[in-house]
Amino acid sequence: MAHKAYGLNELREMFLSFFETKGHLRLPSFSLVPQHDKSILLINAGMTPMKTYFTGEEEPPRRRVCTCQKCIRTADIENIGKTARHGTYFEMLGNFSFGDYFKHEAIAWSWEFLTSPDWVGLEPDRLYPSIYVDDDEAFDIWNKEIGIPAERIFRFGKEDNFWEHGSGPCGPCSEIYYDRGPEYGCGKPGCTVGCDCDRYIEVWNNVFSQFNNDGHGNYTELAQKNIDTGMGLERLACVCQNVDSLFDVDTVMNITHKVSEITGAHYGESHKTDVSLRIITDHIRSATFMIGDGILPSNEGRGYVLRRAARHGKLLGVNDPFLYKVCDTVIHENATAYPDLVEKKEYITRVIRVEEENFGRTIDAGMKIFADMLAAHKEKGETVF
Ligand code: SER
Repeated sequence: MAHKAYGLNELREMFLSFFETKGHLRLPSFSLVPQHDKSILLINAGMTPMKTYFTGEEEPPRRRVCTCQKCIRTADIENIGKTARHGTYFEMLGNFSFGDYFKHEAIAWSWEFLTSPDWVGLEPDRLYPSIYVDDDEAFDIWNKEIGIPAERIFRFGKEDNFWEHGSGPCGPCSEIYYDRGPEYGCGKPGCTVGCDCDRYIEVWNNVFSQFNNDGHGNYTELAQKNIDTGMGLERLACVCQNVDSLFDVDTVMNITHKVSEITGAHYGESHKTDVSLRIITDHIRSATFMIGDGILPSNEGRGYVLRRAARHGKLLGVNDPFLYKVCDTVIHENATAYPDLVEKKEYITRVIRVEEENFGRTIDAGMKIFADMLAAHKEKGETVF
């Protein structure tokens, strides 16, 4: 591994300061609760809180902005924990241009940040750009300006290289893939960039936001050309730290360690235990940030994660409230970037604790009903319940 194994907190800071040197205004993360956007329940990408800056409906504080945005995606929540890649909570690094710079700068800066020894310093030979199938302009920038040989640039269709999420600004994109090495490959003939095995992973997404989707698939050209760049912070940390999964990233692992300390279950012991540890780790991250943003737990939707984490605590044999203690570690690991979490620590831990106690009572009451019914059944001499 030629590059340095930067920590997650270090990488976040490096990205934001890099884009400050390129004239960007650093903004704090927006709340996870969308403010004027009915198309989504929670903020799910770096650009979503700024849609109106892209469309030109609102004037941005500067035409160049960079953020590290808290995001939640719950679409495949039932798979979380089963795979090592997915989490409901993640942070997205982004540099944005609202009618200012376009493809040339966006591509050149993404390459500089990832490969320069002064910044992340990844080996250029491990990186492969992809472009939207007919985007010859992006091809020429990668090929002629950055110097990437044509055979290392991949052209993909709408499914991979056109970014849109719900309604709003969207456009063709150019991604950068990192080759983790043949030992991660599936070994099948034809395994290359775009293969869904673990060898080539996408780290950077440069979206050339130039259309508006009205939500019914009608695209109109935006008056201004924008840049929406997204890079998953945990994903970048996986690459830099040379680890397999988001759960092995330094700050996330520290949360799992705390869960292990309390439950006595250790990561890597068995698949079943790992699934529970990952679910608890991921869901307590989501819950901490959601409650910090004023979302209260409930049975469904936005509050479901806390109950699911508590249920997995029970599976690991913990019957008393414990998530509120893990929340302490989440806040500690994120204290530098999210000082508001530290300020709200007492409130967040209290909400979690109360919810755990309520949930514990509900489960206990349910178990009692079940036991009573079973006993009544047995008394009648019935053997099938
Ligand atoms: N919106 C794009 C994404 O989420 C780039 O920021 O990948």
